[in-house]
Amino acid sequence: MIMDKGIDFDRIDLNSQPPAAEPWRQYYFIAGLRKYVKEESERMGRRLTANVTTFGCQMNARDSEKLSGILECAGYLLTETEEADLVIYNTCTVRDNANQRVYGRLGHINSIKKKNPHMKVALCGCMMQEESVIEKITKSYRFVDLIFGTHNIFQFAELLCTMFESDRTVINIWKDTDQIVEDLPTDRKYPFKSGINIMFGCNNFCSYCIVPYVRGRERSRDPEDILKEIEALAADGVVEIMLLGQNVNSYGKNLIPPVSFAKLLRKAEEIDGIERIRFMTSHPKDLSEELIEVMKQSKKICRHLHLPLQSGSTRILQAMNRRYTKEQYLDLVGKIRKEIPDIAITTDIIVGFPGETMDDIEETIDVVKKVRYENAFTFIYSKRTGTPAASMPDQVPSEVIKQGFDKLLSTVQEVAKERAALLRGKVLPALAEEMNDQDGTLITGRLSNNMIVHFPGSPSLLGKIIHVRLKECHGFYYLGEIAEGL
Ligand code: SAH
Ligand code: SF4
Ligand code: F3S
Repeated sequence: MIMDKGIDFDRIDLNSQPPAAEPWRQYYFIAGLRKYVKEESERMGRRLTANVTTFGCQMNARDSEKLSGILECAGYLLTETEEADLVIYNTCTVRDNANQRVYGRLGHINSIKKKNPHMKVALCGCMMQEESVIEKITKSYRFVDLIFGTHNIFQFAELLCTMFESDRTVINIWKDTDQIVEDLPTDRKYPFKSGINIMFGCNNFCSYCIVPYVRGRERSRDPEDILKEIEALAADGVVEIMLLGQNVNSYGKNLIPPVSFAKLLRKAEEIDGIERIRFMTSHPKDLSEELIEVMKQSKKICRHLHLPLQSGSTRILQAMNRRYTKEQYLDLVGKIRKEIPDIAITTDIIVGFPGETMDDIEETIDVVKKVRYENAFTFIYSKRTGTPAASMPDQVPSEVIKQGFDKLLSTVQEVAKERAALLRGKVLPALAEEMNDQDGTLITGRLSNNMIVHFPGSPSLLGKIIHVRLKECHGFYYLGEIAEGL
């Protein structure tokens, strides 16, 4: 599902100099790529293929959709396999295991490239913003043809053109940017739902987290640009949108004039055709009363809030620079549950932050029991070079991490199961998202509160919102059936 902004790339004059201003400069290079891809395809007697693999979060996935959009406009056939003419890894570095996955896969790519020397390999995303990574790749993975970072992803078409003209690794990393380039083509994985960036970067500097260093300072998109994009998506058949930012609660604070996230939601709600609105992620430190009010009144904003806790111990929260206490977090949840009783609350938790003891983890478990999360993602602390936490003393012994993690996880699972069971027998609207992998007669649907329900149905229902009766609870998901007569 590609949105190419109606540009006629074949009418761009490639004999003229490339324009200096964006996005026209990139349109020029897309036109150049189209010519190259067409000629190569004719020479090889088949279409050129490209593969984009996403390693990170929703924002990383949305960036991949932008890369894919440009590749499709250039004439590439996108494939799921890495046996392609062009392979792009969009990397993540939030925890070390994300990096290790990339290195592992690069080894595999090397063996494919040996059999297929004309293949090109490009790396981008958060990991590439780290100098040590670039050093390692240029030394040990010399077969990589192009490396770029998070700030100049909009230059993808231009960088590819440079790559095809060069016989060495092209490396182009920016330290930071204040630029936001609008109106480039994007592709979407699902025809009926889409993520939308509302802001880039992060200013929070949680002491364990590398994101502010690799994504740069916070920049909000102009609300008009966001609303225009949502309108275009609605016109193209999208019914569900997810507004994306590292902390959506600080959206618009630096715009002139400032705009609140709640106000943006109100405006998005007015757009016809959009039936569901989600957002991610909401930092507890600045979730406003106005936001709770807008969610409460809204018919479109989904009954789901992802509210990362990280730790339930006030001492650890302070060391993490999260800027709330255990009590403030619990008060906030109390208010939200009171105003919006049918909301599902999910969270992220880190175990093993420097100096953490079993007592601290018990505090976290206490919060899990009190909040009664619908789901929680639990991570083992990963030391990220350059962050304040990396140089903190008292790295936690592995026995404490193991014991704490296991106890936390079993509490999370117990609580989540109990929450899910409360929905048994209810009839609720679900967005039919895809056919089930294991059983092709079942549709996988998503409830407003983000719970998954599998129910019998035909592929013609995909993309529609259907009332489903929740019959059997299987912990994190339900089996159900289409409710007749509604
Ligand atoms: N902006 C979002 C989080 C983005 S990173 C927010 O503030 O909620 C997603 C999650 O990864 C975080 O919520 C945190 O739980 C986890 N995480 C980040 N850095 C980590 C680290 N160094 N080790 C382990 N988990 C980490
Ligand atoms: Fe990282 Fe904190 Fe920013 Fe989230 S809010 S991206 S955890 S620094
Ligand atoms: Fe990873 Fe970057 Fe997202 S580090 S979690 S892909 S912002």
